[in-house]
Amino acid sequence: MNCVIASALILLCGHNVGAKTESDYTIERGNLLAEESELQVGGNVRLTDEEIKANDILMRYKNEEVDESFLNPGKFNFSRHYFTYKNDIINSKVYQMIRRMPKGAALHVHSSLMLSTDRLLELTYMDHLYACIADSDLNLYFSDHVPQRPCKFRWQLLSELRNNSENVQEFDDNLKRHFTMCSDDEKEYMGDVNYVWKRFNKVAEVIRELIAYRPAREKFFYEALREFYQDNIMYIEVRSGLKILYELNGTQHDQTYLPRLYNKVAKQFKADHPDFMGIKFIVTKYRGTGIEKIINSINLARRIKEEVPEVFAGFDLVGQEDLGKPLLDFLPILSEAKKDMNFYFHGGETNWFGTVSDENLVDAILLGSKRIGHGYALIKHPSLMAAVRNRDIAIEVNVVSNVVLSLVCDVRNHPLATYLALGMPIVISSDDPGAWGADPLSTDYYIAFVGIASKKADLRMLKQLVINSIRYSALDNKDKLDMFRQLYRNWNVFVKDIIRLYG
Ligand SMILES: *[C@@H]1O[C@H](CO)[C@@H](O)[C@H](O)[C@H]1NC(C)=O
Ligand SMILES: *[C@@H]1O[C@H](CO)[C@@H](O)[C@H](O)[C@H]1NC(C)=O
Ligand SMILES: *[C@@H]1O[C@H](CO)[C@@H](O)[C@H](O)[C@H]1NC(C)=O
Ligand SMILES: [Zn+2]
Repeated sequence: MNCVIASALILLCGHNVGAKTESDYTIERGNLLAEESELQVGGNVRLTDEEIKANDILMRYKNEEVDESFLNPGKFNFSRHYFTYKNDIINSKVYQMIRRMPKGAALHVHSSLMLSTDRLLELTYMDHLYACIADSDLNLYFSDHVPQRPCKFRWQLLSELRNNSENVQEFDDNLKRHFTMCSDDEKEYMGDVNYVWKRFNKVAEVIRELIAYRPAREKFFYEALREFYQDNIMYIEVRSGLKILYELNGTQHDQTYLPRLYNKVAKQFKADHPDFMGIKFIVTKYRGTGIEKIINSINLARRIKEEVPEVFAGFDLVGQEDLGKPLLDFLPILSEAKKDMNFYFHGGETNWFGTVSDENLVDAILLGSKRIGHGYALIKHPSLMAAVRNRDIAIEVNVVSNVVLSLVCDVRNHPLATYLALGMPIVISSDDPGAWGADPLSTDYYIAFVGIASKKADLRMLKQLVINSIRYSALDNKDKLDMFRQLYRNWNVFVKDIIRLYG
């Protein structure tokens, strides 16, 4: 027997170590847990006395929620699909507090799926909207005459269809179904990843048709900003493919029009709400497309960068990764584009391991992506995780999206738990909140905080996540500083409100 093992055995079996070992054990145990506590996201945040008071209140409610489920796992809503409990969330005190929390920036949202279904429905009340309703498909087009476009049945004015319907409420409810993935029927929303993506793309397509009309898009974006602002978000990086917008007389705008329009709307919104700080664009292209179109899209991004520089952030490829083309396919042109623009690539939004889709993560890192969208599969790649940490590449985690798009059901199994525990550079976002009836950020924050993070994770983690959203944004240092100033003003009000309203 070698002496190391021998002395270990003596330590374990010895009679004369009694109380001392026990306290050593307690100390060691405490040290190990303290080490993990410091390592986690927010582990180094120091709270003020006021914040400590607010934190005590927040944690009292969080512990109540978690304990109840710990004792009755059947009550743990977050182990089920989001649609089964989404309407109950509003009753949670923790959620209500998170809703009030200033959240800084939303860094991963797609332009056409930012707005709630009810507001979209209002847009269908605009004049001159024609609908082609055939089988389960809906096509929409604004025009001052009957559209001369293909339709399996016939184009009809939506207002006439609505007026002629027996029950307007029912008519609108049916219409809304085209604008959302939410449903009471499990058979509609549960399925394999290709099935749900197909449904998702269909919803996205109907919405894109509705808002391709310039006046509708203008209203849409102002309303979207309002919903984000009401969720206490001060700045947004919007991903968009820059769809062509048209006028009632059929005139089509050039693709650089949309960023100009959004810029105008955002400025208008800021004039109405001075503590809103603005938007930037990440120009996107569908990853399944051919190389020519990708080149065109990169050139379009270059034009935006040159012509509307204040709103340009960078470039990204989007769409279902398992079915699209890997970044590697476009390596020569992306390497070239890297010289004059920043990337914010989606990467590893997949459950597969060792495939072209999770290996997009390698290329996202090597191409210098500033942040990575989702990074769901990153946890399976220790070297890439280390690279992400060393290069300080933020991971944009979108929890509800990952549930709805069929990557995870019981969110305790979401890799975010590990990323948070490891203190990775994480930002929380929402991807397409309009498509599944989530808040612009609060829902994702709430589920991450109560369902995924450690039970002990507290206000410090939330604060760090909010700080990260500004830190990892595409803003320059001066704008970041402005934003932090405004954030801390709002944060102090939030802390006082928690004490006043929930204490
Ligand atoms: C969980 O869901 C149940 C009903 O499905 C609801 O009564 C309860 O309030 C929910 N809890 C939370 C924290 O949302
Ligand atoms: C539908 O009804 C509204 C209000 O009753 C009316 O203002 C509108 O002109 C009607 N539209 C059509 C196309 O009949
Ligand atoms: C079409 O409508 C737009 C917006 O109302 C207007 O600016 C444009 O001049 C019109 N074009 C034609 C050809 O009538
Ligand atoms: Zn996305």
